[in-house]
Amino acid sequence: MRCKSLVLIVLLCAAAAAQAQNRVPDTIEQRLKACAACHGDQGEGLQNKNEYYPRLAGKPAGYLYNQLVNFRDKRRELAIMNYMVAFLSDHYLREIAEHYARLQPPLPARPARADAETMARGERLARQGDAARGIPACAACHGQTLTGVEPALPGLIGLTPPYIASQLGAWKAGTRHAMKPDCMHEVAAKLTADDVSAVTAFIVAQPLPADPHPAAAGSLPELPLECGGITPRTQGAAR
Ligand code: HEC
Ligand code: HEC
Repeated sequence: MRCKSLVLIVLLCAAAAAQAQNRVPDTIEQRLKACAACHGDQGEGLQNKNEYYPRLAGKPAGYLYNQLVNFRDKRRELAIMNYMVAFLSDHYLREIAEHYARLQPPLPARPARADAETMARGERLARQGDAARGIPACAACHGQTLTGVEPALPGLIGLTPPYIASQLGAWKAGTRHAMKPDCMHEVAAKLTADDVSAVTAFIVAQPLPADPHPAAAGSLPELPLECGGITPRTQGAAR
């Protein structure tokens, strides 16, 4: 009797081993091939003519995780992205986020294309904001070097002009929401089209920082507005 069950176990093991050999290796890189078609093998983003497929590499893991959840829960709308993550668990989304956060392909260099006046206006918005209109400085949340802050504030350096403009537009139009309270909605709602062009021109003209990593968690003084998804609860979970 005992001998029979041993044979059965051996057969089952052999069958499982044979099946495993025929399978593609089950690594995270292999599973994320579907994402690489648009976001690149290293999460560098797709550099095609309108450069709209965003870079994922090196963004804070908590930020990437929040976005995957936002697409799954339709706080951000883009059919393909909503579909890609529709049935994935929180645990798996976190694994994906941590994978891309660890990658660091080089950032693309970008030439300055705007006139001095536009650049000055963009710099003011980015560094000081516009108190009269209630617009806080982008740097007050995205970090002094605009490379973001761990665990969930994304950097702005390395984003492409059409992507920045489309995201600010999506917040205005209500097709992108962050977790509540949605501070970026408040900021974007106050920016005019000229503000968007100016701040975008300034951001993309910045020299690439020697250290492109997001600043350490807790390195900012209190944020000028409250932002959802970066509360202590998420900070704890993002570790
Ligand atoms: C067919 C192209 C396509 C595929 C495939 C795709 N994405 Fe995306 N993804 C996009 C586009 C376009 C955006 C920008 C959406 C927007 O404008 O809000 C995006 C946005 C994102 C963002 C938010 C980036 C940010 O900075 O806010 C994350 C994270 C992301 N994708 C992860 C993934 C993952 C993980 C996969 C695979 C499971 C995947 N994507 C597959 C096209 C794609
Ligand atoms: C009060 C804090 C705060 C201020 C001020 C702020 N942001 Fe943000 N921003 C955020 C947060 C938080 C997110 C991530 C939102 C989310 O989780 O979807 C974000 C996301 C973004 C994104 C999307 C990044 C991506 O990879 O998709 C862009 C673009 C952006 N901000 C631009 C700006 C610009 C330009 C300014 C200045 C005019 C600015 N922000 C000011 C908090 C802020």
